[in-house]
Amino acid sequence: MKPVIALTKGRLETQFLKYFSGLGFDIEPIVNKGRKLRVETDDLQFIFAKGPDVVTYVQYGIADLGIVGGDILAEYTADVYDLLPLPFGACRMAVATEKGKVWPDQKKTIASKYTGITKAFFKEKGESVEIIKLEGSVELAPILGLADAIVDIVETGTTLKENGLVIDEEFMHFSARLIANRSSLKIKREELMPIIEKLSNQEGAQ
Ligand code: PRP
Repeated sequence: MKPVIALTKGRLETQFLKYFSGLGFDIEPIVNKGRKLRVETDDLQFIFAKGPDVVTYVQYGIADLGIVGGDILAEYTADVYDLLPLPFGACRMAVATEKGKVWPDQKKTIASKYTGITKAFFKEKGESVEIIKLEGSVELAPILGLADAIVDIVETGTTLKENGLVIDEEFMHFSARLIANRSSLKIKREELMPIIEKLSNQEGAQ
């Protein structure tokens, strides 16, 4: 059976494919996959999922390897092997708010997809905040008055800028990571090692 790689859909997928093809792998079936969520190349099988689900598929051994953002590994605890950083998907975690924001005297309200990271960050600062969980487009929250600020990943900074938000504080840096199922690494070592070795070749960077 061909090794299975779970790939985070969206921006990481695009960056991974560029990197992967630079390493000499055939990506043609993936580029032309349309809305398919499973694709086979000559040597590999790919499944496409959201970041937290990539981790789940790898943890349960449905996928042998996974490509996922470091932010996801920091937010969701998972029993997977975090193998190595990949040379793309660089981003940072930041507190952001509206330009010229006047902070309230009472408890701040923070909206985020990353409630675990947010909680730990403010706890470390000794600050008590109210956290509101959102699933995406979190930049809307300060603009619409749902929250005083957001905690979110910033990659190019374009989303913040185009929505009139500015960074108040940055506190974690991430890149994409290669993760592996623990037993796959033992049982399928022979098939997986050449792929892992190629992926760790940072020369193929974009
Ligand atoms: C992420 C993140 C920001 C944006 C940052 O969202 O939550 O909104 O990317 O990227 P930038 O600094 O390059 O603009 P994503 O695209 O994953 O969509 P989402 O808002 O639906 O989570």
